[in-house]
Amino acid sequence: MIKIGALVSGGGTNLQAILDAIDKGEIDGQVTSVVSSREGAYALERAASRGIETAVFSKKDYASYQDYDKDLADHFEARGIDLIVYAGFMLILGPDFVDRFKNKMINIHPALIPSFCGKGYYGLHVHEAVLKKGVKITGATVHFVTAECDAGPIILQKAVEVRDDDTPETLQRRVMEQAEWIIYPEAVKLFAQGRLDIKDGIVKIKEIKK
Ligand code: GAR
Repeated sequence: MIKIGALVSGGGTNLQAILDAIDKGEIDGQVTSVVSSREGAYALERAASRGIETAVFSKKDYASYQDYDKDLADHFEARGIDLIVYAGFMLILGPDFVDRFKNKMINIHPALIPSFCGKGYYGLHVHEAVLKKGVKITGATVHFVTAECDAGPIILQKAVEVRDDDTPETLQRRVMEQAEWIIYPEAVKLFAQGRLDIKDGIVKIKEIKK
């Protein structure tokens, strides 16, 4: 069973989807530590109500990005975390964090990478950009986290239709329901099963031997 740490900033519906999959026995793991970048994030309540340890790491308490990244990495390392899931986490962490959890961190992005991703593309802004461009298909992507924002090896993607009458809010909701809450728990399951092989920046999913 793997120990999972989660990084959150907001509502935590993706964290909830992972917790629900654990409850159903679909993931051989436990979420044992949830860290928010800000006080008051509802994701913290979701975790605390299940007795999961929570903490807030606020950038304003740190003199430098390096100090923040180091403290956060120490926090997860001290708890023996095997996998860190970014679940609506709105900060970009630098090499002082990322290098210590290489190939052990995954993120959900609410678009089909490499479209509508990178710096500035987060939360509702992604869906606003999708609607502004007029693309007819969007979706979600789960990928490994590397030092370059939204550029790590892609694990799973799922497409979602864009409708003429969508607002950023309706589109965000459909992408969550039809893609994010499905592929994120699935990716965590595959990681826990040791089935994600990364070679030359490409993820291959190993078959389970019968
Ligand atoms: C989700 O749509 C997630 O994909 C997105 O923020 C939302 C968080 O919702 N993440 C990003 O944009 C990261 N770049 P949640 O807190 O309810 O999971």
